[in-house]
Amino acid sequence: MSRPASDPISELIKGRGIGIDIADSALSDSVQQGIERVEQLLRESVRSDFDFATRTSLHLMEAGGKRFRPLFTLLAAQFGDPHADEVIKSAAVVEMIHLATLYHDDVMDEATMRRGATSANARWDNSIAILAGDFLFAQASALIADLGAEAVRDMARTFELLVTGQMRETVGVGPDEDAVEVYLQVIYEKTGSLIATAGRFGAWFSGADEATIESLDRIGRLIGIGFQISDDIIDIASPADESGKTPGTDLREGVSTLPMLYALADPDTDPRLRDLLSRPLSEDAEVYEALDLLRASNGLERTRATLDEYAGDARKELASLPDTPAREALSTLVDYVVARTR
Ligand code: FPP
Ligand code: MG
Repeated sequence: MSRPASDPISELIKGRGIGIDIADSALSDSVQQGIERVEQLLRESVRSDFDFATRTSLHLMEAGGKRFRPLFTLLAAQFGDPHADEVIKSAAVVEMIHLATLYHDDVMDEATMRRGATSANARWDNSIAILAGDFLFAQASALIADLGAEAVRDMARTFELLVTGQMRETVGVGPDEDAVEVYLQVIYEKTGSLIATAGRFGAWFSGADEATIESLDRIGRLIGIGFQISDDIIDIASPADESGKTPGTDLREGVSTLPMLYALADPDTDPRLRDLLSRPLSEDAEVYEALDLLRASNGLERTRATLDEYAGDARKELASLPDTPAREALSTLVDYVVARTR
């Protein structure tokens, strides 16, 4: 049964920045209820006798965010019992781990804003931001313990990937390494790994079978990587007013994204573009020039083709799942990752 685009879950998700509609009303109600339980658990989990610890870790939690990972867990849980307590716990855990990494990431990036709010390092200082991330990690660990030793080991592995992804990015590409391969490995580790865990945990703790758990793990990885690639495209291809972001941010920060790496790998690329991509750009005129050259380069085209490949693989994976409203919603999510770049 379909319902208008203004149903509560669509509004909630849209309000948080993910433009998918859940057409089926029973699924929409189930996910909505799940999200409410997750929100409650998130807030309960950071309650401490030491008020300052609660306040600092609530800072980013309350700043908003798309809650994309818990949503994915709840959709993955539709292939079993989506209302199981363990499903709600695992959805809260993935969001808390994600939040913990953001506190640390903002220290490393010296960021001033996060989720439309002042970042914790800017609001307090680096030490407090790092400790708030650690506090969230401690509380998340307590919740994971309730899910059993296998879940603890599983999340430890994911945590390791988040850290190695961040390290790999910080160290940069070695002389014998392929820049595109390193880039894809980094986005898998930094983003794909936790979204894969979100899907795996949702299916696992709903009681779904092994094949379904593995499938949702792969779909999460593909969507996570695809989402990062679509971000790279938006930073180059979108007019400022449409994406809500300022194009060229990666060029200003000297971050090498996939369209840039592909352009650099093409022997026919304009030498002027090579020069502009060799350093962070501070002049507006240089940023606009680099954006124009990138838009005309085959780097952008190849990146779109790579995104289409990941989306195609995700769709193939989805086809192996039973044809249910949850599969339909996941398919809409894959379409959204591609459509946001058009
Ligand atoms: C955002 O990256 C950061 C991540 C996706 C993960 C970062 C991982 C760590 C900091 C590992 C260490 C974490 C802990 C808790 C020990 P970005 O800077 O590319 O994206 P942004 O634009 O959202 O900042
Ligand atoms: Mg960052």
